[in-house]
Amino acid sequence: MTMHRSLLKPLFAAAAVAAIGATAPAPAQPAGQPTKQPAKLKVGLMLPYTGTYAALGTAIENGFRLYLAEQGGRLGGREIEFSKVDDESDPAKATDNVNKLVKRDNVDVLVGSVHSGVAMAMARVARDSGTLLIVPNAGAGAITGAMCAPNIFRSSFTMWQSGYAMGDVVAQKGHKKVVTITWKYAAGDESVGGFKEALEKRGGKVQKELTLPFPNVEFQALLTEIAASKPDAVYTFFAGGGAVKFVKDYAAAGLKGKIPLYGAGFLTDGTLEAQGADAEGVWTTLHYADALGTPRDNAFRLAYVKAYKLQPDVYAVQGYDAAQMLAGGLAAVKGDIGRKAEFAAALRKATIDSPRGRFTLSASHNPVQDIYLRQVGAKENKVVGVAAKSLADPGRGCRM
Ligand code: BEZ
Repeated sequence: MTMHRSLLKPLFAAAAVAAIGATAPAPAQPAGQPTKQPAKLKVGLMLPYTGTYAALGTAIENGFRLYLAEQGGRLGGREIEFSKVDDESDPAKATDNVNKLVKRDNVDVLVGSVHSGVAMAMARVARDSGTLLIVPNAGAGAITGAMCAPNIFRSSFTMWQSGYAMGDVVAQKGHKKVVTITWKYAAGDESVGGFKEALEKRGGKVQKELTLPFPNVEFQALLTEIAASKPDAVYTFFAGGGAVKFVKDYAAAGLKGKIPLYGAGFLTDGTLEAQGADAEGVWTTLHYADALGTPRDNAFRLAYVKAYKLQPDVYAVQGYDAAQMLAGGLAAVKGDIGRKAEFAAALRKATIDSPRGRFTLSASHNPVQDIYLRQVGAKENKVVGVAAKSLADPGRGCRM
């Protein structure tokens, strides 16, 4: 998957590049006959287009479509036909929603979703039906852990990855007592779990774990509790509309500048315009940042701004990379998605040339990637350094 082959030459094993970078040639036709086009590949996008994660779903779709447009509208030689479902980030509706795509629309590939509870329902259906699933966000460990399967891949992260990296950072900064605050569901629990694992390994202590139900944003009582607990620091996972409100409420409660705020990078990704000055100085860890300055990322950002008149964010990158991964797998099987074992083998060997930096997939199909330490300055998530190099999720419980 190489728009920038010259950059990659010294770094790629020839086989991996061949597997992932080449576009499948159209099958040869006997002379004199019209070229027969392969049937369109049906891609089912199951994303949130309403609710607190709506902007995240749109950015993922934008990223996916940008990569597709760069390939002339074909992946692995096949034109793409989309079916779309708004999953509303509602796990209770997720099984019905995914079945609309698999059973009603007969999609070849599922792409989704943002919310971990929704994506776990998708993973269950993907396992049962054998449909290829590429998860372009949701970070629940189980998707590439206990629920892992040869046909399930992630172009994003696990919650553990950014949480664990930040636990190390906060401990190294000398903070001993930390209060955590997040939504009570898999993503929040596991982000805090990773953070706590690393912090406590280095002698720090999570003194209190505060939660509220998703997607509740009534933070006031919990912010009062944080002020009363007087911790050295606060660690949090919120995203989308909830992240905007949390950062603004944190400042309005008088905590900004008094108790340093740390988070998984979703806290400040795609949200900085709305958060304004209240986000300045916030520290986060994530597998992407605004000013990486690499030729690959610069080209991606320029193309995204040109196409959508919007700045890209981590969600756009994950959507773009979901399309790259699909293209790479399809190229290896000459567009024949039925050759599942070869498709999976190609992705397992691939190096994905992402705007975030190159990554490979772990044995459980989750990105092995650098986690950046970022700080908000002048409305950008600026890179301060690499908090964890080539961090692999442990893939606990995965048997494949
Ligand atoms: C999740 O539910 O896994 C999630 C949602 C938004 C941002 C990051 C993770």
